[in-house]
Amino acid sequence: MKLRYKIATGFLVLAVVSLSALGIVLSHNSACGPAPVISGDATLMKAIVYRCYGSPDVLQLEEIEKPTPVDNEVLVKVKAAAVNPLDWHYMRGSPYIMRLLGAGLGSPADPRMGVDFAGTVEAVGRDVTQFKPGDEVFGGRSGAFAEYVIIPDDRALVLKPANLSFEQAAAVPIAAITALQALRDKGQIKPGHKVLINGASGGVGTFAVQIAKSYGAEVTGVCSARNADMVRSIGADHVIDYKIENYTENGLHYDLIIDMVGNHSLSKNRQVLTPDGKLVMVGGATGNWLGPLIRPIKALMYSPFVEQEFLMLLANMRQQDLKVLSELMKTGAITPVIDRSYPLSEVAAAIRYSEEGHARGKIIIKLE
Ligand SMILES: NC(=O)c1ccc[n+]([C@@H]2O[C@H](COP(=O)([O-])OP(=O)(O)OC[C@H]3O[C@@H](n4cnc5c(N)ncnc54)[C@H](OP(=O)(O)O)[C@@H]3O)[C@@H](O)[C@H]2O)c1
Repeated sequence: MKLRYKIATGFLVLAVVSLSALGIVLSHNSACGPAPVISGDATLMKAIVYRCYGSPDVLQLEEIEKPTPVDNEVLVKVKAAAVNPLDWHYMRGSPYIMRLLGAGLGSPADPRMGVDFAGTVEAVGRDVTQFKPGDEVFGGRSGAFAEYVIIPDDRALVLKPANLSFEQAAAVPIAAITALQALRDKGQIKPGHKVLINGASGGVGTFAVQIAKSYGAEVTGVCSARNADMVRSIGADHVIDYKIENYTENGLHYDLIIDMVGNHSLSKNRQVLTPDGKLVMVGGATGNWLGPLIRPIKALMYSPFVEQEFLMLLANMRQQDLKVLSELMKTGAITPVIDRSYPLSEVAAAIRYSEEGHARGKIIIKLE
């Protein structure tokens, strides 16, 4: 064999071995570790923790050390939290790329679960000026499935509008910020736009319908028949039952499609977009490996050849956007839709229900 073929073969073998090793490392699930020893004089709180990746069975209700706020931090006594698909992606460590991006190789880097919460400020660090003990607040921070959560005062934390219950406020952060950023930032929504929301009855969809209406859009919600009345009641002008009608085949056109489901190809979506229409891809990606990346990669390759835009969204938890949403809720322009509530001890059941993919609005964790 000539030298250059030997070198090429060597590189190929190295590449295959490296990729296989990366695959093994990324997909490896370590056994569940023991709870750390807590010093006898520590103040404790109840929290949901997980020390290995897996099904909801890995979730445990434990007593862990209650955090103390320093300098710019706010300690919130959690009254309600909300479940998002993000929670079970972290619980399963899937897609695996999340593990490389900070979720933790082999086992979770952070054993705490949950993000969305609402509650009462219990204590603040000495530099905090925006919040004081007793304030009713809501926001997003990892570790929300617990009696207390701690968060820097300039992060995703705002005062709760008085017309909202703690359960309603907890429903807001991830889902409503996602809907707002999909419609406003990616979709550039305008009054009079024809907007289609695919997955209109879910957590993100129920906010997307209402926010799109608040922008003066004509909204079509895609959901199943059992949710049609609810989606109409929150403002959708038209409802399509996905079980009997395919929105990509009914001859209607849209300026903007917000897609939480990802069940129709890019080219099918393009056929129902106006010439300068946009598709914002929010969710629906499945699979542990390349599944979640395939649509964005296809969109990158497809975009240069068509007029329409295909945009991927990764929601960003911004305090400023929570303030925008608070204003919309104060005026009644949006009202969170709540499906059902579970106590903290039943987070595993709540996550199991979320994983079924048929939530009607938001799933809430209610604390005492
Ligand atoms: N990109 C981001 O930053 C970001 C942020 C948040 C969420 N997400 C993703 O967005 C997706 C939606 O999140 P979510 O919180 O809204 O989830 P969710 O609350 O679990 O939504 C479930 C809803 O999807 C509906 N649905 C299922 N199949 C459908 C279909 N074929 N056509 C239309 N609707 C269908 C269900 O309605 P039926 O019961 O009637 O079937 C249900 O109401 C998830 O994949 C999530 O991971 C992405």
